[in-house]
Amino acid sequence: MNDPAAFARAAIERLRADVPGRAIVAASGGIDSTAAALLAERALGDRARAVFVDTGLLREGEVRRVGELFRSTGLRYDVVEASARFLGALAGVADPEEKRRRVGAEFIGLFEEEGAKFGTDRLVQGTIAPDWIESGGELRSTIKTHHNVGGVPKGTRLTLVEPLRDLYKDEVRALARHLGIPEADRQPFPGPGLAVRVAGPVSEDGIRCVRVANAIVEEEVDRAVAAHEMPRPWQYFAVLLATRTVGVTGDNRVLGGAVCVRIVDSVDAMTATAAHPPTAVLGRIAERITRDLAGRVVRVLYDITDKPPATIEWE
Ligand code: XMP
Repeated sequence: MNDPAAFARAAIERLRADVPGRAIVAASGGIDSTAAALLAERALGDRARAVFVDTGLLREGEVRRVGELFRSTGLRYDVVEASARFLGALAGVADPEEKRRRVGAEFIGLFEEEGAKFGTDRLVQGTIAPDWIESGGELRSTIKTHHNVGGVPKGTRLTLVEPLRDLYKDEVRALARHLGIPEADRQPFPGPGLAVRVAGPVSEDGIRCVRVANAIVEEEVDRAVAAHEMPRPWQYFAVLLATRTVGVTGDNRVLGGAVCVRIVDSVDAMTATAAHPPTAVLGRIAERITRDLAGRVVRVLYDITDKPPATIEWE
């Protein structure tokens, strides 16, 4: 895609052809789905209804931030609070692919219900090229099952409409800037949310811990970038590891958890290099995580692996 304006015009025409009646739009607040939602609204007007799902797997402050983002773009949207539903479906699930399938199944079940209320079986999604390339099928091997592709149950009543299917992340960012989406360069956040940042079995406590750790990594990196201590990385987050390790609190040795910090540079997420942030920044992150999660997290690691051979996320 060389020309975002021409792409947007063609996508709007295609949406009008693909959606004769109404459509609901899966709007997560990420760049991909926000761009898809704005295209759908421009194509269909009030025949499109954006639905934002609070899965309970979101980052600190995300519901408020997404609300502000949608209001600033003028997008009309509804919020569905579904954290008990998602956390219930994921409780104890350890396999990363199974996590994605369960998140995908919950999303689709919820959108079927919301679609039925709105009188449609069309679901507009912000699926982009790496999502379906990595999800495999036919001659491709599966790298990971994206919840919005391989995680979609076979028998769904919904017909998917995917205006960004052929775009890569850098192209979506150019489109997002053209559509006036603020923070078009904001770091990506995976659809299955914090569920894939709790390595091993998902629990409410694990989600709570990794939410705290993610917020600290984001705050400290954002602060270091603003202070010109480091360039803005492409993606930066924390993962709660599935391990127990010994630490010291006061006079006691305690068995606690470990968090890994991951900071990477990339262009399109297909490859990435581990960033080398100043040790002072990493020190502040480790200090805050072990203080705010005292006793629960006693060790903080830094991941220095590129993609490949690692992936960006741990799961
Ligand atoms: P990996 O870990 O495969 O991630 O190197 C590449 C990029 O994709 C994001 N990611 C996901 N995004 N659903 C998503 O919407 C997912 O299941 C998923 N898994 C990873 C990841 O954050 C990185 O930006």
